[in-house]
Amino acid sequence: MGQKIKFNYKDKEYEFPLIQGTEGEVGIDIKTLRSETGLITLDPGYKNTGSCISSITYLDGENGILRYRGYDIDDLANNSSFIEVSYLLIFGEMPSSNELNKFENDIRKECLVHEDITSILKSFPHGAHPMGVLASLTSALISFNPGSVDVNSEEKMYHAIVQLIAKFSVLTAWVHRKVRGLPLNYSDNSLPYVENLAQMMFKNPNEEYRSNPVITSALNKLLILHADHEQNCSTSTVRIVGSSEAGLFASISAGISALWGRLHGGANQAVIEMLEMIKRDGGDASKFMEKAKDKNHSFRLMGFGHRVYKNFDPRAKIIKKTADGILKDLGIEDPILDIAKNLEQEALNDKYFVDRKLYPNVDFYSGIIYRALEIPTEMFTVMFALGRLPGWIAQWREMRLNKEPIGRPRQIYNGSISRNTKSKG
Ligand code: CMC
Repeated sequence: MGQKIKFNYKDKEYEFPLIQGTEGEVGIDIKTLRSETGLITLDPGYKNTGSCISSITYLDGENGILRYRGYDIDDLANNSSFIEVSYLLIFGEMPSSNELNKFENDIRKECLVHEDITSILKSFPHGAHPMGVLASLTSALISFNPGSVDVNSEEKMYHAIVQLIAKFSVLTAWVHRKVRGLPLNYSDNSLPYVENLAQMMFKNPNEEYRSNPVITSALNKLLILHADHEQNCSTSTVRIVGSSEAGLFASISAGISALWGRLHGGANQAVIEMLEMIKRDGGDASKFMEKAKDKNHSFRLMGFGHRVYKNFDPRAKIIKKTADGILKDLGIEDPILDIAKNLEQEALNDKYFVDRKLYPNVDFYSGIIYRALEIPTEMFTVMFALGRLPGWIAQWREMRLNKEPIGRPRQIYNGSISRNTKSKG
Protein backbone atom coordinates (compact mmCIF):
# COMPACT_ATOMS: atom_id res chain seq x y z
CA MET A 1 0.00 0.00 0.00
CA GLY A 2 3.00 2.24 0.63
CA GLN A 3 1.16 4.64 2.96
CA LYS A 4 2.35 5.34 6.49
CA ILE A 5 0.85 6.69 9.66
CA LYS A 6 2.82 9.23 11.68
CA PHE A 7 2.73 10.24 15.31
CA ASN A 8 4.81 12.32 17.66
CA TYR A 9 6.03 11.10 21.00
CA LYS A 10 8.52 12.92 23.21
CA ASP A 11 9.31 15.39 20.44
CA LYS A 12 10.17 12.74 17.95
CA GLU A 13 8.18 11.76 14.86
CA TYR A 14 7.61 8.07 14.12
CA GLU A 15 6.21 6.42 11.03
CA PHE A 16 4.51 3.05 10.81
CA PRO A 17 3.38 1.38 7.59
CA LEU A 18 -0.27 0.71 6.76
CA ILE A 19 -1.22 -2.75 5.56
CA GLN A 20 -4.25 -3.33 3.34
CA GLY A 21 -6.14 -6.62 2.93
CA THR A 22 -7.70 -7.83 -0.32
CA GLU A 23 -11.14 -6.59 0.78
CA GLY A 24 -9.86 -3.12 1.64
CA GLU A 25 -9.37 -3.48 5.42
CA VAL A 26 -6.49 -1.34 6.64
CA GLY A 27 -4.29 -1.95 9.68
CA ILE A 28 -1.29 -0.23 11.21
CA ASP A 29 1.77 -2.48 11.26
CA ILE A 30 3.25 -1.90 14.71
CA LYS A 31 5.71 -4.80 14.75
CA THR A 32 8.57 -2.42 15.55
CA LEU A 33 6.60 -0.08 17.85
CA ARG A 34 8.25 -1.10 21.12
CA SER A 35 11.77 -1.41 19.82
CA GLU A 36 11.51 2.05 18.18
CA THR A 37 9.50 3.97 20.78
CA GLY A 38 9.46 1.92 24.01
CA LEU A 39 5.64 1.99 23.87
CA ILE A 40 3.16 -0.84 23.71
CA THR A 41 -0.54 -0.74 22.77
CA LEU A 42 -3.27 -1.63 25.27
CA ASP A 43 -6.41 -3.31 23.94
CA PRO A 44 -8.20 -5.64 26.40
CA GLY A 45 -10.31 -8.18 24.55
CA TYR A 46 -8.36 -7.33 21.36
CA LYS A 47 -11.28 -5.26 20.06
CA ASN A 48 -8.96 -3.33 17.73
CA THR A 49 -6.06 -5.70 17.35
CA GLY A 50 -5.28 -7.94 14.41
CA SER A 51 -3.28 -10.96 15.54
CA CYS A 52 -2.38 -12.27 12.09
CA ILE A 53 -2.77 -11.91 8.35
CA SER A 54 -5.04 -14.70 7.15
CA SER A 55 -6.48 -15.82 3.83
CA ILE A 56 -9.07 -18.26 5.22
CA THR A 57 -12.23 -16.40 6.21
CA TYR A 58 -13.53 -12.93 5.43
CA LEU A 59 -16.03 -11.35 7.76
CA ASP A 60 -17.60 -7.91 7.26
CA GLY A 61 -19.58 -7.32 10.43
CA GLU A 62 -21.04 -3.99 9.30
CA ASN A 63 -22.58 -5.51 6.17
CA GLY A 64 -23.32 -9.01 7.49
CA ILE A 65 -20.96 -10.79 5.06
CA LEU A 66 -19.19 -14.09 5.77
CA ARG A 67 -17.05 -15.90 3.19
CA TYR A 68 -14.79 -18.94 3.40
CA ARG A 69 -11.86 -18.60 0.96
CA GLY A 70 -13.97 -16.14 -1.08
CA TYR A 71 -17.14 -18.29 -1.22
CA ASP A 72 -20.28 -16.81 0.31
CA ILE A 73 -21.60 -18.72 3.34
CA ASP A 74 -25.08 -18.91 1.80
CA ASP A 75 -23.68 -20.49 -1.39
CA LEU A 76 -21.65 -23.05 0.58
CA ALA A 77 -24.47 -23.91 3.02
CA ASN A 78 -26.88 -24.59 0.16
CA ASN A 79 -24.62 -26.26 -2.37
CA SER A 80 -21.73 -28.07 -0.66
CA SER A 81 -21.00 -30.95 1.65
CA PHE A 82 -19.30 -30.40 5.00
CA ILE A 83 -16.30 -32.44 3.87
CA GLU A 84 -15.92 -30.30 0.72
CA VAL A 85 -16.04 -27.17 2.87
CA SER A 86 -13.51 -28.68 5.28
CA TYR A 87 -11.13 -29.32 2.39
CA LEU A 88 -11.70 -25.80 1.08
CA LEU A 89 -10.96 -24.21 4.46
CA ILE A 90 -7.88 -26.30 5.16
CA PHE A 91 -6.26 -26.46 1.73
CA GLY A 92 -7.56 -23.24 0.16
CA GLU A 93 -9.43 -24.51 -2.91
CA MET A 94 -12.58 -26.49 -3.62
CA PRO A 95 -11.52 -30.13 -4.14
CA SER A 96 -11.82 -31.77 -7.55
CA SER A 97 -13.92 -34.95 -7.43
CA ASN A 98 -10.73 -37.04 -7.26
CA GLU A 99 -9.33 -34.93 -4.43
CA LEU A 100 -12.64 -35.14 -2.59
CA ASN A 101 -12.84 -38.93 -2.97
CA LYS A 102 -9.29 -39.32 -1.72
CA PHE A 103 -9.92 -36.99 1.23
CA GLU A 104 -13.10 -38.86 2.23
CA ASN A 105 -11.42 -42.25 1.86
CA ASP A 106 -8.38 -41.16 3.87
CA ILE A 107 -10.72 -39.96 6.63
CA ARG A 108 -12.61 -43.29 6.56
CA LYS A 109 -9.35 -45.22 6.99
CA GLU A 110 -8.73 -43.36 10.26
CA CYS A 111 -12.21 -43.86 11.72
CA LEU A 112 -11.13 -46.27 14.43
CA VAL A 113 -10.42 -44.84 17.86
CA HIS A 114 -8.19 -46.84 20.19
CA GLU A 115 -10.44 -49.08 22.29
CA ASP A 116 -8.72 -47.94 25.50
CA ILE A 117 -10.33 -44.52 24.98
CA THR A 118 -13.67 -46.18 25.78
CA SER A 119 -12.44 -46.93 29.33
CA ILE A 120 -11.60 -43.26 29.79
CA LEU A 121 -15.05 -42.30 28.52
CA LYS A 122 -16.75 -44.81 30.83
CA SER A 123 -14.89 -43.46 33.85
CA PHE A 124 -16.58 -40.04 33.60
CA PRO A 125 -19.47 -39.72 36.04
CA HIS A 126 -22.98 -39.64 34.63
CA GLY A 127 -23.85 -35.97 34.30
CA ALA A 128 -20.32 -34.83 33.37
CA HIS A 129 -20.67 -32.00 30.87
CA PRO A 130 -20.06 -33.33 27.31
CA MET A 131 -17.74 -30.41 26.47
CA GLY A 132 -15.42 -31.33 29.36
CA VAL A 133 -15.55 -34.96 28.26
CA LEU A 134 -14.83 -34.07 24.62
CA ALA A 135 -11.88 -31.83 25.54
CA SER A 136 -10.47 -34.59 27.76
CA LEU A 137 -10.91 -37.32 25.15
CA THR A 138 -9.29 -35.15 22.49
CA SER A 139 -6.40 -34.61 24.89
CA ALA A 140 -6.31 -38.35 25.54
CA LEU A 141 -5.93 -38.97 21.79
CA ILE A 142 -2.51 -37.32 22.08
CA SER A 143 -1.27 -40.30 24.11
CA PHE A 144 -2.25 -42.60 21.27
CA ASN A 145 -0.87 -40.23 18.61
CA PRO A 146 2.12 -38.67 20.40
CA GLY A 147 4.44 -36.05 19.08
CA SER A 148 4.10 -32.69 17.49
CA VAL A 149 3.30 -32.80 13.77
CA ASP A 150 6.28 -32.22 11.50
CA VAL A 151 5.09 -29.08 9.75
CA ASN A 152 7.90 -29.33 7.22
CA SER A 153 6.26 -32.42 5.79
CA GLU A 154 3.01 -31.85 3.84
CA GLU A 155 2.40 -35.59 4.04
CA LYS A 156 2.68 -35.76 7.84
CA MET A 157 0.49 -32.66 8.20
CA TYR A 158 -2.13 -34.21 5.92
CA HIS A 159 -2.05 -37.46 7.87
CA ALA A 160 -2.54 -35.73 11.23
CA ILE A 161 -5.43 -33.71 9.77
CA VAL A 162 -7.38 -36.69 8.37
CA GLN A 163 -6.74 -38.63 11.58
CA LEU A 164 -8.19 -35.84 13.67
CA ILE A 165 -11.24 -35.25 11.44
CA ALA A 166 -12.03 -38.97 11.47
CA LYS A 167 -11.54 -39.61 15.17
CA PHE A 168 -13.26 -36.40 16.29
CA SER A 169 -16.54 -37.47 14.67
CA VAL A 170 -16.34 -40.81 16.53
CA LEU A 171 -15.63 -39.01 19.83
CA THR A 172 -18.57 -36.65 19.24
CA ALA A 173 -20.88 -39.60 18.62
CA TRP A 174 -19.58 -41.46 21.67
CA VAL A 175 -20.02 -38.43 23.93
CA HIS A 176 -23.59 -38.15 22.63
CA ARG A 177 -24.24 -41.85 23.27
CA LYS A 178 -22.83 -41.54 26.80
CA VAL A 179 -25.26 -38.68 27.53
CA ARG A 180 -28.14 -40.74 26.11
CA GLY A 181 -27.05 -43.92 27.92
CA LEU A 182 -26.64 -45.83 24.63
CA PRO A 183 -23.94 -48.44 23.95
CA LEU A 184 -21.05 -47.13 21.86
CA ASN A 185 -21.34 -47.45 18.13
CA TYR A 186 -18.70 -47.58 15.40
CA SER A 187 -18.19 -45.99 12.03
CA ASP A 188 -19.85 -47.49 8.96
CA ASN A 189 -17.30 -46.84 6.25
CA SER A 190 -19.79 -47.45 3.45
CA LEU A 191 -21.47 -44.12 4.29
CA PRO A 192 -20.55 -40.52 3.45
CA TYR A 193 -19.30 -38.43 6.40
CA VAL A 194 -22.57 -36.82 7.58
CA GLU A 195 -24.70 -39.97 7.12
CA ASN A 196 -22.04 -41.88 9.03
CA LEU A 197 -22.07 -39.28 11.80
CA ALA A 198 -25.86 -39.54 12.04
CA GLN A 199 -25.79 -43.34 12.30
CA MET A 200 -22.95 -43.22 14.85
CA MET A 201 -24.95 -40.76 16.97
CA PHE A 202 -28.51 -41.99 16.58
CA LYS A 203 -28.54 -45.73 15.73
CA ASN A 204 -30.48 -47.80 18.24
CA PRO A 205 -28.77 -51.10 19.10
CA ASN A 206 -31.94 -53.07 18.46
CA GLU A 207 -32.98 -51.49 15.15
CA GLU A 208 -31.62 -51.05 11.68
CA TYR A 209 -30.64 -47.42 11.12
CA ARG A 210 -32.46 -45.69 8.26
CA SER A 211 -30.85 -42.50 7.07
CA ASN A 212 -33.26 -39.54 7.06
CA PRO A 213 -32.35 -36.91 4.43
CA VAL A 214 -34.02 -34.15 6.48
CA ILE A 215 -31.68 -34.92 9.39
CA THR A 216 -28.51 -35.31 7.34
CA SER A 217 -29.19 -32.17 5.33
CA ALA A 218 -29.80 -30.18 8.55
CA LEU A 219 -26.61 -31.53 10.13
CA ASN A 220 -24.62 -30.81 6.97
CA LYS A 221 -25.85 -27.21 6.90
CA LEU A 222 -25.24 -26.57 10.59
CA LEU A 223 -21.72 -28.00 10.40
CA ILE A 224 -20.89 -25.77 7.40
CA LEU A 225 -22.31 -22.67 9.08
CA HIS A 226 -20.10 -23.24 12.12
CA ALA A 227 -16.98 -24.29 10.21
CA ASP A 228 -14.93 -21.11 10.62
CA HIS A 229 -15.28 -17.58 11.89
CA GLU A 230 -11.81 -16.04 11.69
CA GLN A 231 -10.05 -14.92 14.89
CA ASN A 232 -12.71 -15.65 17.53
CA CYS A 233 -11.89 -16.74 21.10
CA SER A 234 -11.45 -20.50 20.45
CA THR A 235 -9.63 -20.04 17.13
CA SER A 236 -7.24 -17.54 18.67
CA THR A 237 -6.70 -20.08 21.45
CA VAL A 238 -5.88 -22.82 18.94
CA ARG A 239 -3.42 -20.51 17.14
CA ILE A 240 -1.77 -19.30 20.34
CA VAL A 241 -1.40 -22.80 21.83
CA GLY A 242 -0.08 -24.09 18.48
CA SER A 243 2.35 -21.19 18.29
CA SER A 244 4.33 -22.75 21.17
CA GLU A 245 4.74 -25.78 18.85
CA ALA A 246 2.34 -27.83 20.97
CA GLY A 247 0.83 -30.51 18.73
CA LEU A 248 -2.33 -30.24 16.65
CA PHE A 249 -4.46 -32.40 18.98
CA ALA A 250 -3.33 -30.43 22.06
CA SER A 251 -4.13 -27.13 20.33
CA ILE A 252 -7.61 -28.35 19.36
CA SER A 253 -8.31 -29.61 22.87
CA ALA A 254 -7.53 -26.10 24.16
CA GLY A 255 -9.88 -24.66 21.51
CA ILE A 256 -12.71 -26.90 22.73
CA SER A 257 -12.31 -25.55 26.26
CA ALA A 258 -12.37 -21.96 24.97
CA LEU A 259 -15.52 -22.65 22.94
CA TRP A 260 -17.33 -24.04 25.99
CA GLY A 261 -17.93 -20.63 27.62
CA ARG A 262 -21.46 -19.21 27.40
CA LEU A 263 -20.28 -15.99 25.78
CA HIS A 264 -18.87 -18.08 22.91
CA GLY A 265 -20.08 -21.51 21.71
CA GLY A 266 -21.77 -22.31 25.03
CA ALA A 267 -24.40 -19.70 24.11
CA ASN A 268 -26.37 -22.28 22.10
CA GLN A 269 -27.10 -24.27 25.26
CA ALA A 270 -27.73 -21.05 27.23
CA VAL A 271 -30.28 -19.85 24.61
CA ILE A 272 -32.48 -22.93 24.93
CA GLU A 273 -32.23 -22.83 28.72
CA MET A 274 -33.30 -19.16 28.59
CA LEU A 275 -36.21 -19.88 26.22
CA GLU A 276 -37.36 -22.75 28.43
CA MET A 277 -37.19 -20.45 31.45
CA ILE A 278 -39.37 -17.90 29.61
CA LYS A 279 -41.82 -20.67 28.69
CA ARG A 280 -42.04 -21.92 32.29
CA ASP A 281 -42.62 -18.33 33.35
CA GLY A 282 -45.70 -18.09 31.12
CA GLY A 283 -44.07 -17.13 27.81
CA ASP A 284 -43.91 -13.36 28.36
CA ALA A 285 -40.50 -12.25 27.08
CA SER A 286 -40.75 -8.60 28.14
CA LYS A 287 -39.75 -9.30 31.75
CA PHE A 288 -36.55 -10.94 30.49
CA MET A 289 -35.91 -8.11 28.05
CA GLU A 290 -36.00 -5.67 30.96
CA LYS A 291 -33.60 -7.84 32.95
CA ALA A 292 -31.21 -7.97 29.98
CA LYS A 293 -31.18 -4.15 29.79
CA ASP A 294 -30.71 -3.67 33.52
CA LYS A 295 -27.06 -2.86 34.17
CA ASN A 296 -27.39 -4.04 37.76
CA HIS A 297 -28.31 -7.49 36.51
CA SER A 298 -25.86 -9.96 35.01
CA PHE A 299 -28.57 -11.47 32.78
CA ARG A 300 -28.01 -11.06 29.02
CA LEU A 301 -30.24 -12.00 26.15
CA MET A 302 -28.38 -15.13 25.09
CA GLY A 303 -27.95 -15.58 21.35
CA PHE A 304 -27.98 -11.81 20.85
CA GLY A 305 -25.06 -9.55 20.05
CA HIS A 306 -21.71 -10.23 18.53
CA ARG A 307 -18.24 -8.76 18.80
CA VAL A 308 -17.93 -8.32 15.05
CA TYR A 309 -21.46 -8.31 13.56
CA LYS A 310 -23.12 -4.96 13.96
CA ASN A 311 -25.79 -6.08 11.53
CA PHE A 312 -27.58 -9.41 11.06
CA ASP A 313 -25.34 -12.45 11.50
CA PRO A 314 -25.71 -14.07 8.05
CA ARG A 315 -25.53 -17.52 9.67
CA ALA A 316 -28.51 -16.69 11.90
CA LYS A 317 -30.62 -15.77 8.85
CA ILE A 318 -29.92 -19.15 7.21
CA ILE A 319 -30.47 -21.07 10.45
CA LYS A 320 -33.79 -19.37 11.16
CA LYS A 321 -35.08 -20.33 7.71
CA THR A 322 -33.70 -23.85 8.11
CA ALA A 323 -35.34 -24.25 11.55
CA ASP A 324 -38.75 -23.39 10.10
CA GLY A 325 -38.28 -25.93 7.28
CA ILE A 326 -36.99 -28.75 9.47
CA LEU A 327 -39.73 -28.47 12.07
CA LYS A 328 -42.27 -28.57 9.25
CA ASP A 329 -40.59 -31.54 7.52
CA LEU A 330 -40.34 -33.50 10.77
CA GLY A 331 -43.89 -32.54 11.76
CA ILE A 332 -42.74 -30.95 15.02
CA GLU A 333 -44.46 -28.05 16.73
CA ASP A 334 -42.07 -26.49 19.19
CA PRO A 335 -43.52 -23.63 21.27
CA ILE A 336 -39.93 -22.56 21.96
CA LEU A 337 -39.62 -21.48 18.30
CA ASP A 338 -42.57 -19.08 18.69
CA ILE A 339 -41.08 -17.67 21.90
CA ALA A 340 -37.76 -17.17 20.11
CA LYS A 341 -39.43 -15.37 17.19
CA ASN A 342 -41.41 -13.08 19.52
CA LEU A 343 -38.29 -12.32 21.52
CA GLU A 344 -36.39 -11.48 18.34
CA GLN A 345 -39.17 -9.14 17.17
CA GLU A 346 -39.27 -7.37 20.54
CA ALA A 347 -35.50 -6.95 20.60
CA LEU A 348 -35.33 -5.69 17.02
CA ASN A 349 -37.82 -2.95 17.93
CA ASP A 350 -36.29 -2.05 21.27
CA LYS A 351 -34.17 1.09 21.50
CA TYR A 352 -31.57 -0.56 23.79
CA PHE A 353 -30.88 -3.35 21.27
CA VAL A 354 -31.18 -1.08 18.22
CA ASP A 355 -28.76 1.51 19.64
CA ARG A 356 -26.19 -1.17 20.46
CA LYS A 357 -26.72 -2.97 17.15
CA LEU A 358 -27.56 -6.23 18.87
CA TYR A 359 -29.01 -8.82 16.49
CA PRO A 360 -29.60 -12.57 16.79
CA ASN A 361 -26.37 -14.50 16.30
CA VAL A 362 -25.67 -18.04 15.07
CA ASP A 363 -26.62 -19.53 18.42
CA PHE A 364 -30.10 -18.03 18.66
CA TYR A 365 -31.91 -20.55 16.44
CA SER A 366 -29.40 -23.42 16.12
CA GLY A 367 -30.56 -25.07 19.36
CA ILE A 368 -34.10 -25.30 18.03
CA ILE A 369 -32.81 -27.45 15.16
CA TYR A 370 -30.68 -29.61 17.48
CA ARG A 371 -33.76 -30.15 19.69
CA ALA A 372 -35.76 -31.19 16.65
CA LEU A 373 -33.03 -33.76 15.92
CA GLU A 374 -33.40 -35.00 19.53
CA ILE A 375 -29.89 -33.95 20.49
CA PRO A 376 -29.75 -33.21 24.25
CA THR A 377 -29.20 -29.56 25.22
CA GLU A 378 -25.79 -30.20 26.87
CA MET A 379 -24.60 -31.61 23.53
CA PHE A 380 -25.24 -28.43 21.52
CA THR A 381 -21.79 -26.94 22.05
CA VAL A 382 -20.20 -30.27 21.16
CA MET A 383 -22.01 -30.05 17.80
CA PHE A 384 -20.60 -26.52 17.40
CA ALA A 385 -17.10 -27.91 18.12
CA LEU A 386 -17.52 -30.63 15.51
CA GLY A 387 -18.47 -28.01 12.93
CA ARG A 388 -15.64 -25.67 13.96
CA LEU A 389 -12.98 -28.40 13.73
CA PRO A 390 -11.95 -27.76 10.07
CA GLY A 391 -11.68 -24.04 10.80
CA TRP A 392 -9.45 -24.64 13.80
CA ILE A 393 -7.30 -27.01 11.74
CA ALA A 394 -7.07 -24.56 8.83
CA GLN A 395 -6.06 -21.72 11.16
CA TRP A 396 -3.52 -23.89 12.99
CA ARG A 397 -2.03 -25.06 9.66
CA GLU A 398 -1.84 -21.51 8.28
CA MET A 399 -0.17 -20.27 11.47
CA ARG A 400 2.44 -23.07 11.39
CA LEU A 401 3.13 -22.76 7.66
CA ASN A 402 3.56 -18.99 8.05
CA LYS A 403 6.05 -19.73 10.85
CA GLU A 404 4.30 -17.22 13.09
CA PRO A 405 6.19 -16.39 16.32
CA ILE A 406 4.99 -17.68 19.69
CA GLY A 407 1.96 -15.71 20.89
CA ARG A 408 2.97 -13.65 23.87
CA PRO A 409 1.10 -10.41 24.64
CA ARG A 410 2.54 -7.72 26.88
CA GLN A 411 0.87 -5.86 29.74
CA ILE A 412 0.88 -2.60 31.63
CA TYR A 413 1.83 -3.51 35.18
CA ASN A 414 0.01 -1.61 37.93
CA GLY A 415 0.83 -3.71 41.00
CA SER A 416 3.09 -2.79 43.92
CA ILE A 417 6.38 -1.21 43.06
CA SER A 418 9.59 -2.79 44.36
CA ARG A 419 9.53 -3.58 48.10
CA ASN A 420 11.11 -6.15 50.40
CA THR A 421 10.00 -8.36 53.26
CA LYS A 422 11.76 -6.17 55.88
CA SER A 423 9.59 -3.15 55.04
CA LYS A 424 6.46 -5.19 55.99
CA GLY A 425 4.32 -3.75 58.84
N1 CMC B 1 -27.97 -8.77 26.07
C1 CMC B 1 -27.99 -7.52 26.63
N2 CMC B 1 -27.05 -6.58 26.42
C2 CMC B 1 -26.03 -6.90 25.62
C3 CMC B 1 -25.92 -8.16 25.00
C4 CMC B 1 -26.94 -9.11 25.25
N3 CMC B 1 -26.90 -10.32 24.70
N4 CMC B 1 -24.80 -8.19 24.25
C5 CMC B 1 -24.20 -7.01 24.39
N5 CMC B 1 -24.95 -6.21 25.23
C6 CMC B 1 -24.68 -4.81 25.56
C7 CMC B 1 -23.58 -4.69 26.62
O1 CMC B 1 -24.11 -4.71 27.93
C8 CMC B 1 -22.96 -3.37 26.24
O2 CMC B 1 -23.83 -2.35 26.71
P1 CMC B 1 -23.20 -0.91 27.19
O3 CMC B 1 -22.56 -0.33 25.97
O4 CMC B 1 -24.38 -0.16 27.68
O5 CMC B 1 -22.20 -1.24 28.27
C9 CMC B 1 -23.04 -3.35 24.72
O6 CMC B 1 -24.18 -4.18 24.40
C10 CMC B 1 -21.80 -3.88 24.03
O7 CMC B 1 -21.55 -5.19 24.54
P2 CMC B 1 -20.12 -5.80 24.82
O8 CMC B 1 -20.21 -6.84 25.88
O9 CMC B 1 -19.12 -4.68 25.05
O10 CMC B 1 -19.78 -6.45 23.41
P3 CMC B 1 -18.71 -7.54 23.17
O11 CMC B 1 -18.32 -7.41 21.75
O12 CMC B 1 -17.63 -7.51 24.18
O13 CMC B 1 -19.52 -8.92 23.41
C11 CMC B 1 -20.85 -10.84 23.09
C12 CMC B 1 -20.07 -9.71 22.42
C13 CMC B 1 -21.23 -11.87 22.03
C14 CMC B 1 -19.97 -11.55 24.13
C15 CMC B 1 -22.10 -10.24 23.77
O14 CMC B 1 -22.93 -9.64 22.78
C16 CMC B 1 -22.90 -11.29 24.54
O15 CMC B 1 -22.60 -11.53 25.72
N6 CMC B 1 -23.94 -11.93 23.91
C17 CMC B 1 -24.67 -13.00 24.55
C18 CMC B 1 -23.88 -14.30 24.45
C19 CMC B 1 -23.91 -14.88 23.06
O16 CMC B 1 -24.96 -14.97 22.43
N7 CMC B 1 -22.74 -15.32 22.59
C20 CMC B 1 -22.61 -15.99 21.28
C21 CMC B 1 -21.82 -15.18 20.30
S1 CMC B 1 -22.00 -15.84 18.62
C22 CMC B 1 -21.21 -17.37 18.66
C23 CMC B 1 -19.76 -17.24 18.60
O17 CMC B 1 -19.22 -16.96 17.49
O18 CMC B 1 -19.11 -17.41 19.62
